[in-house]
Amino acid sequence: MLEELKKIEINAREALESADSEDALQHWHSKRLGRKSALMGVFNSMSKLTKEERPEVGRRANEVKMALEAVYEEKVAALKRATIQASLENEILDVTLPGRARARGRLHPITQTMRKIQSIFAEMGFQVYRSREVETDEYNFELLNFPKHHPARDMQDTYYTTKPGVILRTHTSPGQIHAMREYTPDPIRVILPGMCYRYEQVTTRAEMQFTQVEGLAVGQNITFGDLKGTLTDFARRFFGQSVRSRFRASYFPFTEPSAEMDIECFVCGGEGCSVCKHTGWLEILGSGMVHPTVLRNGGYDPEEFSGFAFGMGPERLTMLRHGITDIRYFWRNDLRFLEQF
Ligand code: PHE
Repeated sequence: MLEELKKIEINAREALESADSEDALQHWHSKRLGRKSALMGVFNSMSKLTKEERPEVGRRANEVKMALEAVYEEKVAALKRATIQASLENEILDVTLPGRARARGRLHPITQTMRKIQSIFAEMGFQVYRSREVETDEYNFELLNFPKHHPARDMQDTYYTTKPGVILRTHTSPGQIHAMREYTPDPIRVILPGMCYRYEQVTTRAEMQFTQVEGLAVGQNITFGDLKGTLTDFARRFFGQSVRSRFRASYFPFTEPSAEMDIECFVCGGEGCSVCKHTGWLEILGSGMVHPTVLRNGGYDPEEFSGFAFGMGPERLTMLRHGITDIRYFWRNDLRFLEQF
C-alpha cells in the first residue's frame, strides 16, 4: 500500500507539470483527488488492511492528499499570475498618449450671416416670418405689381414647374403678401429669410440658388425716414459703427419710391478699386416704400397705412465682409473653404 501511495504521488506530480490551462488543471484535480481517484481508492480500501498497517497507511495517504492539494493550489495561483502578466504585456495602454481630437461641426458661413442679420433685426423688434419656397406666379409676381409681360420680370429668370402657375420663388418678396394677408389690419414688423431660385447662368457673381432676407414694416405714419434709419443702423451693426452708407434711387414694381443702399467700399475706403468697380461704393440691398397696390393686395388701405420693405442677399453680404471673390464657393461643399469660417 505504501508503495502504491508513493507511485500515486509521483504520477500525480508529473501529470501536474504538464497541466498548463485552467481546463487541464480542473481535469487533473478530479482525476487525481476526486471521488474516483486512485488516492481515494486507498482511503476506501482501508478496511481491508490489518490493524497494524492501518495507522501508517492512513497517515501517509493524508500526507499525500495534503501535499497534492498544496501543489495544485500553487499551480492554480501561478497560472493566474501568468495570465495577468500576459494581458499586461499584450494590452498595453499608454495613458500618456494624447487623445484623438473629435472633429467638431460648424455652421455654414451663410447660416452664420443669416443668424447675424436675424439677431440685429430682432433687437429692433422684427420677428421672423417663414414663407414657402414653391410659389405661385400670382404671389411671386402678379400681387407684387408685376403684371404679365411686365419687362421687370426679365430680371428674375424663373424656374417653372410642370403645374401651370406654380414656380420656385425668385425672391422672398411674395412672403410680404402672405404676411400682410395673415396680419391685416394689425401693424407688421417682420423679416423673411430663405432660399430663392433663379434660372441664371452661374458665374462668379450669380448662382441659380441663393438666400435672401426680406424685411417688411407696415403701420400708420411709417415714412421713408424710418426706412433710412432702420437700414443705416443695420449697416452699422453689421459692418461696423464707422461704415458710411448712401441711398440711390432705383426701381422695383412693388415699392415706390425705391432705393438701393450702398456702403462705402472698405477695401479702398472710397478711393475706387477693382472690388467696387472704381465707384467707391458697394451695393448691399434693395428697398422702398410699399407700393399702394401691394398694400391693397395685402389687405391694407393705402389711405390709412404705409410701410417700407427691403431685400438683401446674405451671400453678397458674406462676400463683402470676408473679401470672397466667387459666389460658387458657398454651395461647392469644399471643406478647405468652409473650414475657414
Ligand atoms: N425682391 C427684390 C429683389 O430680389 C429686392 C427688394 C425687396 C427690393 C424688397 C425692394 C423691396 O431684387
